[in-house]
Amino acid sequence: MLHKKKIVTFSALLIFVLLGVAAVKPVFKKDRNLKVLPKDISDAKLDSIMQTYNKALGVKCNFCHIPVKYIADSLDYASDAEPMKENARKMMKMVIYINNTNFNFENNQQPEYLHTVTCKTCHRGEAFPPED
Ligand code: HEC
Ligand code: HEC
Repeated sequence: MLHKKKIVTFSALLIFVLLGVAAVKPVFKKDRNLKVLPKDISDAKLDSIMQTYNKALGVKCNFCHIPVKYIADSLDYASDAEPMKENARKMMKMVIYINNTNFNFENNQQPEYLHTVTCKTCHRGEAFPPED
């Protein structure tokens, strides 16, 4: 009888410890799904670049990122399910190319972070800039 009690107490303790570890440990960080931006980009830099897209195109984050199913006000940033995200990647590559070939004086800057020409240069607050 005593032995059984010990096992119950021990199991209860173990559960508390495991719960504690789960609460303290930050949610496991997934690898980022980046095909254009550098993989070692900081969270702050990534966020500030994304903010410039919102401003330049006059949109919200959900223009390119789909919501997480059943969770209100959440976006699945790593998902590629929203086709607009791939359109944006093409634009990003174009902008990197323009800056790298015309404005990367002395090749001293990472081309992804050059911003002589930006999304705003053409978009000026519109997702689909008029052609003339
Ligand atoms: C015009 C489209 C567009 C808008 C608007 C946009 N994003 Fe993104 N976002 C992208 C693209 C494209 C990528 C992937 C970049 C790559 O492949 O290098 C991305 C990637 C990300 C990632 C990295 C996801 C991962 O793989 O871990 C985060 C986080 C993110 N965006 C947050 C935001 C936030 C927050 C906003 C609003 C402030 C926002 N985005 C607005 C196009 C957009
Ligand atoms: C050299 C001018 C130019 C620059 C710079 C530019 N865009 Fe565009 N973008 C356009 C034009 C023009 C259209 C409209 C094309 C159309 O209507 O078919 C467009 C359309 C888009 C669209 C709508 C989908 C599509 O492919 O038609 C997205 C999303 C977009 N741009 C994102 C971006 C992002 C993000 C940046 C910055 C990384 C950017 N653009 C920089 C000219 C530009």
